[in-house]
Amino acid sequence: MRLGFFSGTGPEGKGLSLRFAAAGASVVLGSRDLQRASRAADACNTVLGEPLILGMENRELFSACNIIFLAVPYARAVDAVVDARPFLHAGHILVDVTVPLSFRGGGVEYLEQEGGSNSEIIARQLPAGIPLVAAFKTIPAGVLARLDAQLNCDVFVCGDDAEAKRSVLEAASLIPSLRPLDAGPLRSARILERMTALAAWLNLHYKSKGARYRIEGL
Ligand SMILES: NC(=O)c1ccc[n+]([C@@H]2O[C@H](COP(=O)([O-])OP(=O)(O)OC[C@H]3O[C@@H](n4cnc5c(N)ncnc54)[C@H](OP(=O)(O)O)[C@@H]3O)[C@@H](O)[C@H]2O)c1
Repeated sequence: MRLGFFSGTGPEGKGLSLRFAAAGASVVLGSRDLQRASRAADACNTVLGEPLILGMENRELFSACNIIFLAVPYARAVDAVVDARPFLHAGHILVDVTVPLSFRGGGVEYLEQEGGSNSEIIARQLPAGIPLVAAFKTIPAGVLARLDAQLNCDVFVCGDDAEAKRSVLEAASLIPSLRPLDAGPLRSARILERMTALAAWLNLHYKSKGARYRIEGL
């Protein structure tokens, strides 16, 4: 299992890369620009204290990794997948972490889209046989980056391909203090994206960076 972060140079991509690398996973951090990828990988490796993460151009990720996280802004995700199409082949799994939120004007707004969740919109652009799994949408970058902080939360994983979903649940289980939960079909991303909007609103309201979910009673 080798994890690649497509344009993982932002806070969410770097935070997830850090957590996975610290947990012993093989991690490659991608960017549209090789220098930016290398700089972000170096910054993460400084935090980790060892050169565990490799920086690469996005298109190189596809031959080096089997699980590829899409860590671009939500509105760029469809274009990113269209660009990635020639490099995708059987055995790849795409993991969508994008959430259609706007932070304009100092607030947070969930952006309703025709076609359902951002994950469902992206999945329709994928070649046949390439599964998309939605995961990690509700986990804020602010807490991922602080490796000394326990996550103590759930990660909701949904998708229509049972085997791909199992692989992502297995990957997520590497991270300590994170409980992976099967959240059903890809359609559940409609709920997860809205849950993220609520968590982001709570973060703003309570001047926090770490609002996240833990389901009791399971
Ligand atoms: N931040 C959070 O707390 C959080 C929590 C949950 C989910 N998410 C989701 O995770 C995704 C990444 O979040 P982020 O905050 O890390 O995003 P970001 O910093 O805005 O962007 C991530 C990366 O995407 C690439 N990018 C930026 N603008 C682009 C454009 N116009 N076209 C193509 N690529 C572009 C850049 O990588 P290169 O230039 O290096 O290619 C950038 O470093 C978002 O969809 C967000 O909704 C974020």
